[in-house]
Amino acid sequence: MIEIRKLNKAFGEKAVLKDISVDIKEGELFSVIGPSGIGKSTFIKCVIRLLTPDSGSIVVDGQDIASTKSEFTLARVRRSFGYLFQEGALFDSLSVFENVSFGLRYLTDIPKSEYPRIVREKLALVGLRDVERLKPAELSVGMKKRVSLARSIAAEPKYILYDEPTTGLDPVTTGMVKDLITDMRAKLGVTSVVVTHDMKLALDISSRVAMLYGGEFVEVSEPAAFRNSENKAVREFMEISHLSRDGRRHI
Ligand SMILES: Nc1ncnc2c1ncn2[C@@H]1O[C@H](COP(=O)(O)OP(=O)(O)OP(=O)(O)O)[C@@H](O)[C@H]1O
Ligand SMILES: [Mg+2]
Repeated sequence: MIEIRKLNKAFGEKAVLKDISVDIKEGELFSVIGPSGIGKSTFIKCVIRLLTPDSGSIVVDGQDIASTKSEFTLARVRRSFGYLFQEGALFDSLSVFENVSFGLRYLTDIPKSEYPRIVREKLALVGLRDVERLKPAELSVGMKKRVSLARSIAAEPKYILYDEPTTGLDPVTTGMVKDLITDMRAKLGVTSVVVTHDMKLALDISSRVAMLYGGEFVEVSEPAAFRNSENKAVREFMEISHLSRDGRRHI
């Protein structure tokens, strides 16, 4: 369980997250939605302390990582996380195989002889095969995204944070990634936080959706209630996403 209390993060004068409090429960698929530049990436980067919050607490399995100065504690907590960077962030000099198995080497005791099987399996889950030897430069944007996704799930972490998992993907691959995220939860009981500006995706896959606006979660509710929210920011965002209250697109 991830318990976030009064989380604040500013860049200079600009307060991006203001007193955010939320509990992300075991096995949940919690989505954070909001327009570009509102602070979605900032939020999940704070959750694994890639960014240090200005104040507040983030308690993961009983351990507050917002303020800990212990590298040991941070490393231990991070081990239970998989993280999909918005930018993909593959290591350019490493092959696909080395990228996907990277976390296995540093975060687990899984014997090396198992890596080829695991890498093959995870790549298959994102619809890729026979790409192990390629370098990131030889991959399309969508393929890079999928390799990044395979890397974030390789060690089968307890928590997975996905930053814009479907941006830049075609509809077929988007469907595949959607299934993958849902399956990780259903089959492995993974607790997931998905950050996205794709309202339809969030409404389709989440147990709860949070709307980040003006530095706050202005609405946090289950998809059915979220669709019918009277909050102005939610209504506007639904409108921009061409979604009606029943979740159907109206274009
Ligand atoms: N390291 C940083 N230094 C200064 N400002 C930053 C930094 N990271 C983010 N910001 C600012 O914080 C705000 C929120 O950025 P963030 O990347 O969290 O938005 P986002 O909701 O993820 O946007 P997008 O949907 O485009 O990915 C933006 O105004 C951004 O310019
Ligand atoms: Mg972002």
